[in-house]
Amino acid sequence: MAELALPKNSVVKAGKHWPAPGGAKAVKSFRIYRYDPEAGGNPRWDTYDVPVDAVGPMVLDALIYIKNTIDPTLAFRRSCREGVCGSCAMNIGGRNTLACTHGWAEVPGKAVQISPLPHMAVVKDLIPDLTIFYAQYASIEPWLHTTPPEPANEWKQSESDREKLDGLYECILCACCSTSCPSYWWNGDRYLGPAALLHAYRWLIDSRDEATGERLDALEDPFKLYRCHTIMNCAQVCPKGLNPAKAIAEVKKMMVDRVI
Ligand code: SF4
Ligand code: SF4
Ligand code: FES
Repeated sequence: MAELALPKNSVVKAGKHWPAPGGAKAVKSFRIYRYDPEAGGNPRWDTYDVPVDAVGPMVLDALIYIKNTIDPTLAFRRSCREGVCGSCAMNIGGRNTLACTHGWAEVPGKAVQISPLPHMAVVKDLIPDLTIFYAQYASIEPWLHTTPPEPANEWKQSESDREKLDGLYECILCACCSTSCPSYWWNGDRYLGPAALLHAYRWLIDSRDEATGERLDALEDPFKLYRCHTIMNCAQVCPKGLNPAKAIAEVKKMMVDRVI
């Protein structure tokens, strides 16, 4: 039988407990993954008791409260606070989602457990390293490929062709889908993952794009596209309600259609 050994410092240990200030009437606990690779040592779970009257309804409100009033060393990404920028994606109560649109009261249990997006290297605390994720997005060349001559004003598109982009262009590149995909966990360096493939399809079906053949050629690879096994985690977690698995199936269909 194979013996598996965990890498050094990979066991998550019990961390510090930060009690709520005296006099707090109602309290919600947040159990948060803490890790600083530069500091060395193991990751840990810190628990922060937050007086609920002092915070807004979303998990991001609680994280901002913790950082501003309890522990300024806590690190996480956020920007828009409106579910638009994708930067606050993290694993909340066992599910990848956006901290700014997910209510802490929606998480069952005494404590809200929060960790970084799974199976990614951690930059610090709740911040995953998305270098490979963004490189994969860049690799599908997410812009219009056209050949001259250019139109005088703009590349036009019929209403029905424009509608084909619905359900695709709304992606905010939060990475919730790719980091919930088992195929991406095991082959994240070679399988492009649901987010990049959804965008690949978005450009493949754009009526104005003139590089369909080249785009399909670039995806014709045992790993880049065909590691999707239709497990559907991606569609279940997408906070924008998109369905990357369906987009991937459409790309596979285009691959077949062009050879028959
Ligand atoms: S359907 Fe494909 S991309 Fe989506 S989670 Fe499953 S294997 Fe990953
Ligand atoms: S498809 Fe959904 S989950 Fe995936 S990156 Fe785009 S918005 Fe996020
Ligand atoms: S802060 Fe922009 S999506 Fe959450």
